[in-house]
Amino acid sequence: MNKNISDVIKSRRATPPKFLSKKEVSKVVIQRILENANWAPNHKNTEPWRFKVYTGKSKQKLSNEIYSLLINKIESGESLNSQKVDKFKSSIESVPVAIAIIFERDAAERVPEWQEIAAVSMAVQNMWLTATDLDLGAFWATPEFLPF
Ligand SMILES: Cc1cc2nc3c(=O)[nH]c(=O)nc-3n(C[C@H](O)[C@H](O)[C@H](O)COP(=O)(O)O)c2cc1C
Repeated sequence: MNKNISDVIKSRRATPPKFLSKKEVSKVVIQRILENANWAPNHKNTEPWRFKVYTGKSKQKLSNEIYSLLINKIESGESLNSQKVDKFKSSIESVPVAIAIIFERDAAERVPEWQEIAAVSMAVQNMWLTATDLDLGAFWATPEFLPF
């Protein structure tokens, strides 16, 4: 903690889920990560990010639900890579915390969409750097089959 900012930026890495620790992450730590996300710059204060945190049973439920939606798609003829679907499922199950990053467009569309996507990316970087500062590994998964 309290590392030099350049060191934090340079030591942040995408750590694939299979290499992440399975150790539980405390609520206080998750809250710190989310609070720092909220401090990301965003035009007209639209704060176009929402986060949903999944641990334990809720994470298992999320995994099951995503999996059955994707399997339904495959069964109805969509060309999804089933190996990638299986890998995504086991990734969610193996990590201690999964955070869904949701883009919520300003209802009045007061700023261009790209600015809001950029703002969400800045929020994610804040989260990722905070995790690094706290010696936690993190990974941003954006598989082609999400969002639904
Ligand atoms: C917007 C965005 C989406 C990403 N999505 C994925 C992904 O779906 N799968 C993956 O393996 N890595 C993903 N990554 C991580 C990049 O592959 C990773 O950041 C890059 O290889 C550089 O490695 P580093 O983050 O350790 O410097 C994503 C990164 C960004 C910024």
